[in-house]
Amino acid sequence: MVMQSIDARTTMSALMLGLQETCHDMRQPVASVFALAAAALSQPDLPQPARAYLEQIVEQAEWLADLIQQSLPAAGPGAPAGCQTDLLRVVRDAVAAECLTWPGDLRVAGEAEPVFTAVHAVLLRRMVANLLSNATRAAGPSGAVTVVVGKRRRSATLTVEDTGPGFGKIERGLGLGLNVVSRFATAHDGMLDYGCSPTGGARVSLSLPRTADARIGLRRRYF
Ligand SMILES: Nc1ncnc2c1ncn2[C@@H]1O[C@H](COP(=O)(O)OP(=O)(O)O)[C@@H](O)[C@H]1O
Ligand SMILES: [Mg+2]
Repeated sequence: MVMQSIDARTTMSALMLGLQETCHDMRQPVASVFALAAAALSQPDLPQPARAYLEQIVEQAEWLADLIQQSLPAAGPGAPAGCQTDLLRVVRDAVAAECLTWPGDLRVAGEAEPVFTAVHAVLLRRMVANLLSNATRAAGPSGAVTVVVGKRRRSATLTVEDTGPGFGKIERGLGLGLNVVSRFATAHDGMLDYGCSPTGGARVSLSLPRTADARIGLRRRYF
């Protein structure tokens, strides 16, 4: 029994190391994407639509770079202990990215002002992106998804509703996404709930502790 758990831990450490090595080696091609996009953006007489696509490529590469960085052990003095991330901003970015590959009707409703929560921006975006990708997959290319960002006294809330067949009634994928969301939520004293919306599609809700004030200027965009 003890031997088995030592084996499991050794396997897990090897997997973690493999993942970190892969993330480490992915930084170079991602840097190449930035360099190539920058070179293309500096071309004279670049047509406006091509410029807009290139800027979107840069945004997606930035997100990939953030994901990679987050998966690597912190070097040097490390990241600041507490962070404050604007849920609304993260939702808008994740929705914009989802719209690049999903043709359906995707709307953001609810709060119009920032809603801050003490979750790292990369983790929060991974949570939101996972919920969005399930909802759009369930709704299908001609369906609709509504994302509502809300605020209670102590919590920041996110509700994702879709016009799909209802929770658990879609073809199963790898089955990793909701586990990730649930694990991150629990680790931050938050909660994930799922069920059906009044229209019969799925309704998935996330609640995370809310923080009152934004810290300015720690990192680009979200803080
Ligand atoms: N919006 C949704 N509509 C219907 N079922 C869903 C939805 N989101 C999640 N589910 C159910 O939860 C399961 C697990 O989701 P997830 O962990 O993201 O794995 P995967 O997306 O790989 O199937 C899905 O296979 C599906 O049965
Ligand atoms: Mg999924």
